[in-house]
Amino acid sequence: MDMTPDDFPTSAYIGGEWVTSKDRFAVVNPATGLVIASVPDLTAADARRAIDAASAALPAWSAKTAKDRAAVLRRWNELILAEAEPLAQLMTAEQGKPLAESRGEVAYGASFVEWFAEEGKRAYGRTIPTTAASKRYVTIKQPIGVVAAITPWNFPIAMITRKVAPALAAGCTIIVKPAEDTPLCALALAKLAEKAGLPEGVLNVVTTRNARGVGEVLCADSRVRKLTFTGSTEVGKVLYRQCADTVKKLTLELGGNAPLIVFDDADLDQAVAGAMASKYRNAGQTCVCANRILVQAGIYDRFADALAKAAQSLIIGPGTGQGVNLGPLINAEAIAKVESLMADAVKRGGTVKTGGAKDAAGSLFYKPTVLTGVTADMDIVGQEIFGPVAALIKFETDDEAIALANSTPFGLAAYLFSQNISRAWKTAEKLEAGMVGVNEGIFSNEVVPFGGVKESGLGREGAAEGLDEYLETKFICLGGI
Ligand code: SIN
Repeated sequence: MDMTPDDFPTSAYIGGEWVTSKDRFAVVNPATGLVIASVPDLTAADARRAIDAASAALPAWSAKTAKDRAAVLRRWNELILAEAEPLAQLMTAEQGKPLAESRGEVAYGASFVEWFAEEGKRAYGRTIPTTAASKRYVTIKQPIGVVAAITPWNFPIAMITRKVAPALAAGCTIIVKPAEDTPLCALALAKLAEKAGLPEGVLNVVTTRNARGVGEVLCADSRVRKLTFTGSTEVGKVLYRQCADTVKKLTLELGGNAPLIVFDDADLDQAVAGAMASKYRNAGQTCVCANRILVQAGIYDRFADALAKAAQSLIIGPGTGQGVNLGPLINAEAIAKVESLMADAVKRGGTVKTGGAKDAAGSLFYKPTVLTGVTADMDIVGQEIFGPVAALIKFETDDEAIALANSTPFGLAAYLFSQNISRAWKTAEKLEAGMVGVNEGIFSNEVVPFGGVKESGLGREGAAEGLDEYLETKFICLGGI
């Protein structure tokens, strides 16, 4: 290990140059409230320069063989892994998650680079049996072109590599606009990509507080052929509309409202472990966190008691603290949202079984909470909590659970716990979600497709599907045979 978090860059990266600006914005450690660095507050004009750079780099990068591109990506993967500890420290400093989770995310992030380095070599076309004796039909896959990626703060490395690695493997060039709360990991990744030999302009990182202005430029420019976004459904819809004029291809990984169903015949320990993993990962700040925990009447009380006991055992504090497994929320808005959802739920008859308040660890810490007696009229049922609150709803029948689970415009993740394989399979088929965990609270990895249905988004990330998002299919008809 030869880098410390202090060695990572605090300049933006455009066309292979480290770009500074007189306007900068502060990056704050959410655990302490202290400023840890500042980065350039780039403008819409800078975003246009980044598109120029990515456009200029496209012909040479897309002309390389997949094998040559894979060599660069493999080096990038190795460098990320070699710097895993300082990267994890950096992530905990700017995002707040416990160090163990940051270490896990660095490995998770690197896994996309490794996977797509290989998968890029398998961008196969097809030969199609002809309908005319004088013609032959084939399809080839080609890179879509310049890509823009707008990435979130909750996974400051993995949500970048899950987009950038397939784009680069496919032969695209890319501009990343990282979340303003967590730009440092994005810049660190760019530094390591540069070290790995990625040519100038192939990857560009535009740090800015002007998300709207920069987003408008990325969406309006016809040279950008694809937008990939992870974030809220509200912002995703705006970007979707803004991309209409240039008919861009889109991947949207948007909000969720994941149901986690615990049937009477569930293994209690397994269901509690699954709910804990899904609910409290990253302090509840993932799009796939269990948002509504639907528990059948026969197991409800036992499950609620066991979950509350497990929640009480979590150690809350700054992510660098010994044994800490619950860090702060990202900012004051996030805390305010959790407090308002809790106030509404309690006003409407919900009972706080454990937690239910801010924690003395600091202004952005919220106690791990279990709320019982939750009913469909509460805001906490309709909105994404994005905090460490487990909301328990009681149900009687399978049909009721499925109807409740699907009664949302969202459809990202869903979970169910049952020892009855037939019931589990039938329920999994009926759930309106892009991903279903059966007796499992965490399922994300690089080899499986991640994405949602309904208002949770378009397209898939990771797996073979994730590469296809950056490729166009061209049909070639060879006549005169
Ligand atoms: C997300 O919350 O957007 C990503 C979660 C994951 O990759 O598991």
